[in-house]
Amino acid sequence: MGSSRLSARALLGLIGELDPSRALYEALAERIRLLIMDGRIAVGTRLPSERELAAQAGRSRTTIVAAYQVLRDSDYLISRQGSGSSAALPDGRPGPETSTRMIDFARAVPPPVTGLKDLFAEVSFRQALDGRGFDLQGRLELRSVIAERYSDRGLPTTPEQIMVTMGGQHAIALIAHTLIARADSALIESPTYPHANDALRRAGARVITTPVTTGGWDLDHLLEVLSTVRPALAYLVPDFHNPTGASMLPEERVHIIDTARRMGTTLVIDETTADLNIDRPWDDGPFARHARRILPSGSAGPITIGSLSKSIWGGLRLGWIRASTSVIGRLVQARPAGDLGTPQMEQLLAEQIVRSLPRLLAQRREFLREHREVLSALLAEQLPGWTIPRPHGGLSLWTRLDRPASSALTSLCEARGLALVAGPKFSIDGAFERFIRLPFTSPIADLDDGVRTLAMTWAQLSGARPVRREEPHEVGFV
Ligand SMILES: Cc1ncc(COP(=O)(O)O)c(C=O)c1O
Repeated sequence: MGSSRLSARALLGLIGELDPSRALYEALAERIRLLIMDGRIAVGTRLPSERELAAQAGRSRTTIVAAYQVLRDSDYLISRQGSGSSAALPDGRPGPETSTRMIDFARAVPPPVTGLKDLFAEVSFRQALDGRGFDLQGRLELRSVIAERYSDRGLPTTPEQIMVTMGGQHAIALIAHTLIARADSALIESPTYPHANDALRRAGARVITTPVTTGGWDLDHLLEVLSTVRPALAYLVPDFHNPTGASMLPEERVHIIDTARRMGTTLVIDETTADLNIDRPWDDGPFARHARRILPSGSAGPITIGSLSKSIWGGLRLGWIRASTSVIGRLVQARPAGDLGTPQMEQLLAEQIVRSLPRLLAQRREFLREHREVLSALLAEQLPGWTIPRPHGGLSLWTRLDRPASSALTSLCEARGLALVAGPKFSIDGAFERFIRLPFTSPIADLDDGVRTLAMTWAQLSGARPVRREEPHEVGFV
């Protein structure tokens, strides 16, 4: 427990303006309660004495005493003779320091796909010992099966157009560092996958955004930004977009490729999530497929990023880039500044995985379908005021709260053993306080526990009486 002390002046600074429509003591108690709930006053912090706060605020002591009493009555303040009043959380749940197990709703990381274990047994890893054991562009055999899959899906590709990377994030960072010159502008979606934003900024890009919702892209806006700003690069996630789960319509893809070509913008299409189709009734194949029809032959076309992290297992750290041979050449040349190559062992396994993809993806789909259903049902039942989307795929629900308090919810849940990422983390300007990304990748028992914590915390944040758990927790809901 923290044992720091908050001065009257510091507390008044945190409190700010009070709601004038309420009695002063009530408004004051409410404000302090919210500060404790969202973690800005840490549990265990000693608050100033009533007398000190009254003097500093220029209010009567009776008002402050009444406010503190409200907080004591609702278990947000514990007062002990001789040691003053300390911030607390009701219901006796442990604070951050004493919490033991965290439920993870922060990372959208699914477990290894069913069937992966068997593949380990089939691969002869000894081959990896024959050579150096790592390489800059990737094993020819692996690049060949990846290229074949693109060709089969309508995008003719040679192994020379593929570079194997250590995951999708590595691919994004390498592309950003190689292709972005300082102060180039780069277009990204908002909300977006936050580490892509980080990588582009670190490479020196000036980032501009175009909106995406669970309903999709604002195509007019996107084309307008491409035409007026002419960004050097545009990073887009057109299939089961992270975090919204939206998919871009085929005709929208055509417009974007055409406009980007005219403006000289390099499209970087992240298909890390593209194989996570649960029940989208169409499959448009790789985005870059459309470029073949539109672009003059010989032009470079979009750069595509792929990864096995979400569809198979993140522990492989295996992804790739598909691009023109000249872009691949530049990336291979630039790579040693950051790393010296992908390990052969992972590549040997990946080759076997890509050969077995249809079977493995069917397993992944079943997992995602079940987990999406469970999380949606739990949320609908326990948080009926929230707007729960129904994405056709991906790993999470970009959920709309009934009031903007995503950061407060996140910090309070963290104190109760539930890790979350608040909506603003997916923006570049602090927007999306009304949203929270809820991945459905955790085990079912954790989804169940996590939603209970969400519901109880939200009730408290909203000023309702906390929902206390009456019945023992059942493991293995549904
Ligand atoms: C859109 C997108 N791209 C890339 C990544 C990173 O993938 P990897 O684990 O392969 O580095 C993620 C991970 O969440 C993602 O959502």
